[in-house]
Amino acid sequence: MFKTAITEMFGIKCPIICGAMMWLSKPPLCAAISNAGGMGNLTAGNYTTEEEFRGAIQETRRRTDKPFMVNLTFMPSVRISPEHHQMYIKVCAEEKVAGIEVSGTPLDKAAGMGAVEALKKAGVKLFHKVGAVRHALHAQKAGYDGVYAAGIEEGGHPLNDDVTTMVLIPRMVESLKIPVVAVGGIADGRTMAAALTLGAQAVMMASRFIATQECVVHDNIKQELVKRQEYETILFGKSIGLQGRALKSKVIEEILAIEEKGGGVKELFPLMSGERIKEAWDKGHVQDAPLMVGQSIGLIKNVLSCKELLDTMAKEAAECLAKAKRMVQA
Ligand SMILES: Cc1cc2nc3c(=O)[nH]c(=O)nc-3n(C[C@H](O)[C@H](O)[C@H](O)COP(=O)(O)O)c2cc1C
Repeated sequence: MFKTAITEMFGIKCPIICGAMMWLSKPPLCAAISNAGGMGNLTAGNYTTEEEFRGAIQETRRRTDKPFMVNLTFMPSVRISPEHHQMYIKVCAEEKVAGIEVSGTPLDKAAGMGAVEALKKAGVKLFHKVGAVRHALHAQKAGYDGVYAAGIEEGGHPLNDDVTTMVLIPRMVESLKIPVVAVGGIADGRTMAAALTLGAQAVMMASRFIATQECVVHDNIKQELVKRQEYETILFGKSIGLQGRALKSKVIEEILAIEEKGGGVKELFPLMSGERIKEAWDKGHVQDAPLMVGQSIGLIKNVLSCKELLDTMAKEAAECLAKAKRMVQA
């Protein structure tokens, strides 16, 4: 039904891509999204050995014969080192994955132009997740195949330029020759139609995929996302130079109080550690760790299968686009 630069590039039916989600973007969810006609995501940071990472790619391939993306997050981490990054790049090239979503430091700076060239030679499409036109222009110059343009509404770590998706997408589209994918604030067919109208060639969402049957997370979390509203996320981490957006909770109040009184990473880290977040997802403890979701949670009304979600979104987006066309007099 949709024909865009992204559906053509990957041979997929539906221009809906899943974003990286540490602890959640794993083979079951990734394959379910790809099988539903979109583009699943396998987040490399979930794996710390070559065997585990290659095993996750192979497991995803056993579950789907459709393309999926791998995320490489080049941000400060206590678990993941530059050696892990080199391993991920090597395995992605050897396994010839369809594409890579890079976030944080661009690939050419994090691993050198050799890495960009090796991946391109292996046929891997490269996308960088950016929050500013200047960063997108860098990605284009370095040879990336497209950008994910992420507005301040997004979950995870939006850039501290704080520009909304509504403004960022047209600015990206007018400034770049490579395709732009809209990220942040998207969770249904209406927001998808808006992004495509702004010139995006696809949409990326992450929070919406948590409330799907195939996401391996405690059911409390899925129900909580259905209940929570668009004003129930908050930015934190500005004082330590790593802004994040998460669900409002007891722990976020504690984090913001520490930041307010000038506390540093040492004091904050125990409240934000990866292990703490993993436990909260697994046990459904919404108040105990920063759950990095976006404002798009206000649009989540139910828990669906990935197939139901993508089918519903595609239908609704098509209806919105047709309705918008009818608003124009010949
Ligand atoms: C639970 C969760 C974990 C995330 N982890 C990562 C990550 O490890 N690396 C990354 O680049 N982005 C990460 N993100 C950001 C998403 O990939 C995506 O950019 C963002 O969530 C899109 O906004 P939305 O959630 O409102 O759709 C995460 C998002 C969520 C919701």
